[in-house]
Amino acid sequence: MLQLGMETDIQLNETRLQPSHRMDLRNFSEKDYNKFVKLNTVNDWSQLRWKDIGRPYEVTSFAKEKKDWEEEHQQSLPANVSWQMFNKSFHEWFVKDVPAEMDMSKRNFMKSLSNFKLAETKSALGELIRIHLWNYAHRIEDGIWDPRGKRALFEGLDLIKPRILFLGAAEGYEAMQLSAMYPGGEIVFVDYDPFCKDTRFRDFPDTYPFLGSNPSTGGNKVYHKKDFETEYIVEDIRNLPFGHEFDIVLSVGLLEHFPDTLKSEVVDWHKRFLKTGGYIIMTTPRAQLKSKLYYEIMADVMNHTYRELMTVEQMGLYLYENGLDILKHGFIKVHNGIVARPR
Ligand SMILES: C[S@@+](CC[C@H](N)C(=O)[O-])C[C@H]1O[C@@H](n2cnc3c(N)ncnc32)[C@H](O)[C@@H]1O
Repeated sequence: MLQLGMETDIQLNETRLQPSHRMDLRNFSEKDYNKFVKLNTVNDWSQLRWKDIGRPYEVTSFAKEKKDWEEEHQQSLPANVSWQMFNKSFHEWFVKDVPAEMDMSKRNFMKSLSNFKLAETKSALGELIRIHLWNYAHRIEDGIWDPRGKRALFEGLDLIKPRILFLGAAEGYEAMQLSAMYPGGEIVFVDYDPFCKDTRFRDFPDTYPFLGSNPSTGGNKVYHKKDFETEYIVEDIRNLPFGHEFDIVLSVGLLEHFPDTLKSEVVDWHKRFLKTGGYIIMTTPRAQLKSKLYYEIMADVMNHTYRELMTVEQMGLYLYENGLDILKHGFIKVHNGIVARPR
């Protein structure tokens, strides 16, 4: 029997569209899996060479807000300020009533046509395209949260009541999905942008269902934000006081924001807080044509920082070269995912 534990009528194996997101409690077959999850394509990481796999693709179209700041201050935007801009801008999209905004942007576009003003029409068309793209990417395809892909990546780990450290946690989604699958532990979120704790995590929908397991029956159980034991620390990862005390150290969309000279430092952040026998879990956006187009069209919303798109082979080689053994790797809808351990 599925325990929903909250006022919601969504059932196991059901998916439901909400105005701002999708809820998805579908369990699926191997065949369904293979449609959007490819795991373990590399047999021997020691044989991989950069000359064979190439380097990541660098996104070079930036948000107007970043360009304006740099012009005004005659210097490059500091990383922490760029994250503040990014989080504020990205969050606005997660709370949109998407169908209502699609209607409104269509009306605005039609109105701009009747006004015969080219600049107005261009801007209205841009809004129309962006809201339709967001509807497709986040709400219809569920590519950003991707609960089914993430569950496929996270399943099968040897964990009981894990302590999870989420580096650059933003709204905290993936640690909550992990904690639902391996319940009874604790999540420590870390992000140096206070907006992430005070708004992105706080406003994450209380009714969002995370499909996980029920330790007393071995069956399924649905969890919500309030069911997890959490602590949210607003701090630079480089200043964290922890030792090797976490069963999982997780990051989602962090590594690709650092150029090659800083990649080993980022990998070290994950090793530094991990218990012996624990797991490092990382994901990064995929270098695929539709992601390149997405970051181009959504530049004003998303591109405040240095950003690469990489293949899972490139991502894995960064981790392997920096002392990790790769236990599981693959790609889900829009991200690569790797489960690893220090060698
Ligand atoms: C690209 S976001 C992660 C993607 C996330 N899933 C989302 O939806 O936005 C990376 C996060 O890491 C945080 N971050 C980057 N560098 C950090 C550092 N040195 N210490 C703490 N947080 C950091 C940023 O503030 C940002 O919220």
